[in-house]
Amino acid sequence: MPLTHTTELFAKALEGKYALGAFNVNNMELLQAIIEACEEEKAPVMLQISKGARSYAHPVYLKKLIEAAVECSSIPIAVHLDHGDTFELCRQCVDDGFTSVMIDGSHLPFEENAALCKQVVDYAHRHNAVVEGELGQLVGAQFDEGEEGGEYSEGGVYTHPEEAVEFVRKTGVDSLAVAIGNSHGAYKFKGEQHLDLERLKAIKAALKDAGLGDYPLVLHGASSVPAELVQDINRYGGGMGTDTAGVPEADIEIARRVGCTKVNIDTDLRLAMTAAIRKELDDNPAQFDPRKYLGPARARVKELVRHKITNVLCSAGHAFD
Ligand code: G3H
Ligand code: 13P
Ligand code: ZN
Repeated sequence: MPLTHTTELFAKALEGKYALGAFNVNNMELLQAIIEACEEEKAPVMLQISKGARSYAHPVYLKKLIEAAVECSSIPIAVHLDHGDTFELCRQCVDDGFTSVMIDGSHLPFEENAALCKQVVDYAHRHNAVVEGELGQLVGAQFDEGEEGGEYSEGGVYTHPEEAVEFVRKTGVDSLAVAIGNSHGAYKFKGEQHLDLERLKAIKAALKDAGLGDYPLVLHGASSVPAELVQDINRYGGGMGTDTAGVPEADIEIARRVGCTKVNIDTDLRLAMTAAIRKELDDNPAQFDPRKYLGPARARVKELVRHKITNVLCSAGHAFD
């Protein structure tokens, strides 16, 4: 089966009211773990490649690995550029056959972000790909205090509902990543762990009221940073801080119901892989066959992905809708 287009996956996810897991891929074991879990649970999936993944693994290796994943499975798979930072990188990925690209101009002033996004949209739409833009900055909840639900000041870093409408209209972008207190990595919150879900509802409603329909929103930084993974990492020689914090899975579930159609997860995969490798090497200090610790690492990532798609994103069972 060839790649499935991102547009088709989004349309079905919106219809079925589930979220697509968008998992980051950097190497073979991560890819196999994601694909095996999604195949067994019959879940459509988005594979994300970052600029860093391309330079770590090489674009050709990644392309061939994904070809192998498509050949070895029967589920719908889309391939997406994560956090593209230039038009040129987005163009290369569209030319390489990615079904969607993200252009992340969120650090730019509104008009520059919109202009860059529109440039990518114009190219991608002429070449059978779709585009994710980003508005607002993913710096975490602690940086936007006082902006909680309802008070949509335009000076903050959270996504402003009316600006989201203007951005989508101006650019023609196909999906939008929002900033609602989310951030990347394993240290997401300084205080209480939560997303501004009222703001998410307001963004979704504003897009609908503007005639943009059931517009797909994207949640970045959606790792929950499970305590047991951090504990295992530290138990077996790691040194992660005591202030790790992720998004509660209950919040992700609400975000899914409100309208986050694509949910990005990377950190949790990294934690699962690292916890398993550390444990295996601690249990067997004489071990030097990489298969003996990468195999268990792959298995632990696979169980994590199975949990996400089954219990949080609810994409399991929807592969052949
Ligand atoms: O949001 C970023 C992703 O986790 C990718 O991270 O740039 O280290 O590959 P990376
Ligand atoms: P986490 O690493 O926090 O899961 O975020 C992933 C992400 O947003 C990729 O774009
Ligand atoms: Zn991200």
